[in-house]
Amino acid sequence: MHNAAFQHIGMKGVYQAVDIEPSCLGKSLLRLKEPDVLGANLSLPHKEAVVPFLDEIEPVARRIGAVNTIIRKDSKLLGTNTDADGFYQSLMEGGYQPQGIALILGAGGAARAAVHALSQAGLTLWIQNRTPERAQQLLDSMQVEGRVFATQQEVPFSEVGLLVNTSSAGLSNLQETPLTVPFPELQSGATVYDMVYKPLYTRLLLEANEQGYNTVTGIGMLVHQARLAFERWTGQSVPASVMFDAVKDTLQ
Ligand SMILES: NC(=O)c1ccc[n+]([C@@H]2O[C@H](COP(=O)([O-])OP(=O)(O)OC[C@H]3O[C@@H](n4cnc5c(N)ncnc54)[C@H](OP(=O)(O)O)[C@@H]3O)[C@@H](O)[C@H]2O)c1
Repeated sequence: MHNAAFQHIGMKGVYQAVDIEPSCLGKSLLRLKEPDVLGANLSLPHKEAVVPFLDEIEPVARRIGAVNTIIRKDSKLLGTNTDADGFYQSLMEGGYQPQGIALILGAGGAARAAVHALSQAGLTLWIQNRTPERAQQLLDSMQVEGRVFATQQEVPFSEVGLLVNTSSAGLSNLQETPLTVPFPELQSGATVYDMVYKPLYTRLLLEANEQGYNTVTGIGMLVHQARLAFERWTGQSVPASVMFDAVKDTLQ
């Protein structure tokens, strides 16, 4: 995605994936301070661990508790998070009409980005996770009011206008679904969003589609978080379609 974006703006740049052992994170970040570097993205398990090594953290990343993007500013490293905005933009592009309650499945890093975005949008939040204590900790640490359900059997699904899967259930497994109940009846016109983008059409989305709900895949979030990071590094915007075209064929 990023290499396609560099090409699009005619900038001689390259985006490379690098494996970093957790114990080498601090040392590896020194490389980012060199003048030929624009910044970096981070993925698991570095998103939280990186915080103490950075010179500045933007409020959005502090609230989410995770940094997915580093921007070099002279010899200083600034941490931010583009996942929440990426999620929200893709949700709106996916035709979500704000209605009812937002139910989030999962309570890891991706859930924190969704909670940030949806609470900023003023939605009432419910959250259900395999480990319910983790869901409560998430809400407490982000100072968001919401209801935690220990099991899906207890959820009044008919009040739900947005169901967001942020758990890893369904990742690389078309048989798996985050639902532990038969596909529930949601509000009419509800949207079902799955952050899992491999496979692109997860079992959750296929079933939601069969029930007539609006469905949104995780590819939009992937593209928009990348687009927003690219904009921060280069100061230039690139159409989302450039990045989408570069990634879509790898995610069937
Ligand atoms: N579309 C995008 O751009 C985007 C961005 C970020 C993440 N994601 C996707 O979102 C997913 C979660 O990422 P993350 O960073 O939040 O991971 P994480 O921090 O490791 O959290 C994983 C979450 O999934 C739950 N979980 C794992 N396996 C499960 C299963 N079999 N059944 C039910 N719940 C299960 C965990 O529950 P416990 O707390 O009980 O362990 C936890 O809540 C991944 O699939 C990732 O690829 C997509």
